[in-house]
Amino acid sequence: MEKVMKLPRHVAIILDGNGRWAKAKGMPRSFGHQEGLKALVELIKYTNSIGLEELSVFGFSTENWNRPRTEINYIMGLVEKGYKNYQEKIKTMDLKIKIVGELEMLKPNLQKIANELEEATKDNKGMTLNVFFSYGGKQELVRAFKKLEGQEITIETIQNNLDIKTDVDLLIRTGGNQRISNFLIWQLAYAELYFTEVYFPDFKKEDFDQAIEYYNKQERRFGGLK
Ligand code: FPP
Repeated sequence: MEKVMKLPRHVAIILDGNGRWAKAKGMPRSFGHQEGLKALVELIKYTNSIGLEELSVFGFSTENWNRPRTEINYIMGLVEKGYKNYQEKIKTMDLKIKIVGELEMLKPNLQKIANELEEATKDNKGMTLNVFFSYGGKQELVRAFKKLEGQEITIETIQNNLDIKTDVDLLIRTGGNQRISNFLIWQLAYAELYFTEVYFPDFKKEDFDQAIEYYNKQERRFGGLK
């Protein structure tokens, strides 16, 4: 990042367009996911290196369970293989990793990976990396409300019972669609929204910098006056 720019504290990203990226190249959708995972690793390295505090990544939504079984199995296999290949590297990257979602829907070996990653990185001081897997924003709210039983309902008590308690400052969505798709609906309340046509496997650090540039041009008033 060359120009002096203010980094948002918490950036969230919806990775979209892996399938279309592959199709445009005459390749199977699985190739798009494979290359998407590579792009994600590079993005994590970059955002950590520039000192971003928190990155939230929407990898697999509750609704993605409706995809064909072969595609789901491919994505799950990719995560497992990715973990095997990268686990030592991940532990040296100074990331604090949190896996968020309905993890009970995952196969036991993936649940184990999620627990191992959280445990191995919990005392790290670098970027907080929230990976959303089998996740839905409405479902997160239901989980939070259930935990509230007997407590007063306030913004604070709801927020304290969410999986992710920090507001998002900037949401990036790749792949050309302009929607939230049941991602972090509470935490996005005051986020700046940045949509790009770029398919996720092509999303490079320069594209991330463009999003930060966009963020820097916005005047954030949070409903007040400047
Ligand atoms: C969006 O593209 C991508 C997905 C639903 C899956 C992404 C999964 C990975 C990159 C693997 C690992 C991820 C994590 C976070 C560990 P799409 O398939 O919706 O593309 P399309 O809109 O072009 O069909």
